[in-house]
Amino acid sequence: MQKFIVTGGTPLRGEVRIAGAKNAVLKLMAASVLTSEPCLLRNVPRISDVMIMRETMTDIGFDVRRVGADALRITATDADWLFVPLEAAAKMRASFILLGPLLARFGRVIISNPGGDRIGRRPVDLHVAAMESLGARVEYKNGYYFAQAPSGLRGGHIEFPYVTVMGTENAVLAAVLARGSTVIDNAAQEPEVDDLIAMLCAMGARIERVAPHRLEIKGVESLGGAEHAVMGDRLEAGTFAIAAAVTGGDVTVRGVAPEHLGAFLEVLDCMGVPVEILPPSETDAPGLRVRAAGTYAPVAVETQPYPGFATDLQAPTAVLMTQADGVSTIHETIYEDRLDYTTELGKMGAVIEVLDERHCQIAGPTALHGREVEIADLRAGATLVLAALAASETSVISGVEHVDRGYEQIESKLVALGAQIHRIDA
Ligand code: EPZ
Repeated sequence: MQKFIVTGGTPLRGEVRIAGAKNAVLKLMAASVLTSEPCLLRNVPRISDVMIMRETMTDIGFDVRRVGADALRITATDADWLFVPLEAAAKMRASFILLGPLLARFGRVIISNPGGDRIGRRPVDLHVAAMESLGARVEYKNGYYFAQAPSGLRGGHIEFPYVTVMGTENAVLAAVLARGSTVIDNAAQEPEVDDLIAMLCAMGARIERVAPHRLEIKGVESLGGAEHAVMGDRLEAGTFAIAAAVTGGDVTVRGVAPEHLGAFLEVLDCMGVPVEILPPSETDAPGLRVRAAGTYAPVAVETQPYPGFATDLQAPTAVLMTQADGVSTIHETIYEDRLDYTTELGKMGAVIEVLDERHCQIAGPTALHGREVEIADLRAGATLVLAALAASETSVISGVEHVDRGYEQIESKLVALGAQIHRIDA
């Protein structure tokens, strides 16, 4: 187990380059399964979830190799076996995104139920229903889904009862090679979904977002290889924006599309955080500059599917709320159990009242103090790092492997901005 030792109180200043998005790259890797031709992904983040996906795909028999500093070349010539084991699913829920492409390309797959994790039950019933709408037969036995479409998938009409990001992506990944056309209603609008669609179209797929929540797909016989640059990680960018605001700093974040952070930037604006949008230039990617202000106003945040406020930025924003002058509220509408981090935040001095599994109130401004805290999941981990940076004294944060899943070399990026943080082997 590794720990972070963080001594707070230093304003973060400088420029940070945001990595490729975790919640895009894992699906783009899965998309390369749809063709026997090589696919090249650029701007691939060095995070452990990419390594897990790479191992899982290699175990199936696909060739996945790093090329240069930030690229992956994937060639899914043929599969040795069409099986995604419990080990993969237990490590990473996103391994379930292999269901659609394996079914579309090979006509059958046995894949482990990813099960719930720390933020809720997170079933995959909507993914399975979507496959059945496309003509697949799916049986569930002993923790595994046995999916098959011996005569191939056929186009259908999928209407999701509520928005599911990976459910939408699995449906798209299956429909692109189905016979006939598919309509997906109540489809997710997250930018990562459109990044996947862009790569699939470059491979020869025919997909159109005909309305915000409606996708139309015309199945094609086969797909070819493509090159694709992974979009910048809006969640990493949001985390660094909060780091600037809570440490009294001034940070420029490059490599993210500001329009992907709309609802989040509205909240920062409401709280009085000065944000400057930075357009792309000949030498620079787009981004934003975030400077701290003397005081912040409290705010009411309600998480929603995109373009609403991202649930993955809910916990990091709570740290900023502890510094606001008044009572802020959080309503988590996506997950039934994503307020656990408030316990550890409370230990550091935050005044948080959890009203129920989806609602809490945060009173500020409160001084945060260094403590020994334990990370439970990825976004909660980033939250505790932010709190430790804002706190006086020193914090010891254990469970940093959770943070490594989705944040590329977070401590070296923070040190480059002046933070006092280092990693130790406990
Ligand atoms: C994606 O998860 C992201 N993960 C999550 O980010 C993110 O929080 C989530 O979308 C919402 O934006 C990846 O993209 C790898 P959902 P996903 O299906 O697709 C319920 C992070 O920290 N549901 O949109 O699994 C589900 O339980 C992670 O990077 C069903 O009931 O989320 C949840 O309450 C955490 N049945 C809600 O829908 C299903 O079949 C939304 O989940 C599918 C989902």
